[in-house]
Amino acid sequence: MAQAQPVGVQALAVALWWWADFVYAPARALKPLGLYRGETVGSPPEPDPWPGAGPRFSRELDGPWLLDEEPGHYDSVAWFDEVSAEYDQLVMRFSGHIFAETVARMRPHLGAAARILDPSAGPGRQAMDLAALVPDGEVVAADLSREMVLRAHADAQARGIRNMAFVQADVSQPPAAFDEAFDAIFCCLAFHHYPDGRGAVEAFARVLAPGGVAFVADAGPAWMVALARDISVAGDPGFVRHRTGHEFVDLFRDAGFRHVSWEEILPGMGLTTAVK
Ligand SMILES: C[S@@+](CC[C@H](N)C(=O)[O-])C[C@H]1O[C@@H](n2cnc3c(N)ncnc32)[C@H](O)[C@@H]1O
Repeated sequence: MAQAQPVGVQALAVALWWWADFVYAPARALKPLGLYRGETVGSPPEPDPWPGAGPRFSRELDGPWLLDEEPGHYDSVAWFDEVSAEYDQLVMRFSGHIFAETVARMRPHLGAAARILDPSAGPGRQAMDLAALVPDGEVVAADLSREMVLRAHADAQARGIRNMAFVQADVSQPPAAFDEAFDAIFCCLAFHHYPDGRGAVEAFARVLAPGGVAFVADAGPAWMVALARDISVAGDPGFVRHRTGHEFVDLFRDAGFRHVSWEEILPGMGLTTAVK
């Protein structure tokens, strides 16, 4: 049964729904008319897709791959364990717009056999939708929250999805088997939870094959970083910090990515695109 959530969490959920209906939906309707355009930092990379690395982990792993020992900061995802069943209901209305805008930009970079890592997939709904876009490839849905990984696996099994694997891992400490294994990374609404942002980006550089592309969607422009701070501290358990577009670009450049750009894809929501 769904548990009552603290007031701060309820306030954040209401704010997300409100923003989805009264800000994101109108902005998306205005975009094709040229009446909404967000900030940008740099220009996005030209797509250079190759067929992709193909399936590997979905064939090698029989079930979810769970950690023997959880890291010291596991508390930061304890709330995600608790809400794994209700999580989609809380955020789907909001994140659906972000997913659609991100996929529109990712798609030209993906071959049919692309191997994609979602390092913080939550209950895996978006990862499952991505798996349908790469029928000859695969998506690895990872998360630090054990319950999220188990739920994503169970839901994918129920939907008969075969080209996915499920892994419990901290974003900054991916398994060695991931080294240079991925054509793309899709990371949505999670970066603000990472205690070590630099470590996360260095891990992205490690797990991408040369030429692989990371797509990271998170709240972005300076005005949104300021606006969202208090409500995130009060209502987003495990919140660490948001970053501006310039901060994201610097972080990825410092980690050695060769082409980095950032775009405000919806009001207050940025997408960093970084080519290794
Ligand atoms: C707000 S949810 C986003 C889930 C999904 N990407 C979406 O957009 O609906 C953030 C997710 O990040 C995960 N997470 C937080 N810290 C993490 C870490 N250090 N390593 C991996 N995942 C982490 C949480 O467990 C949670 O599932």
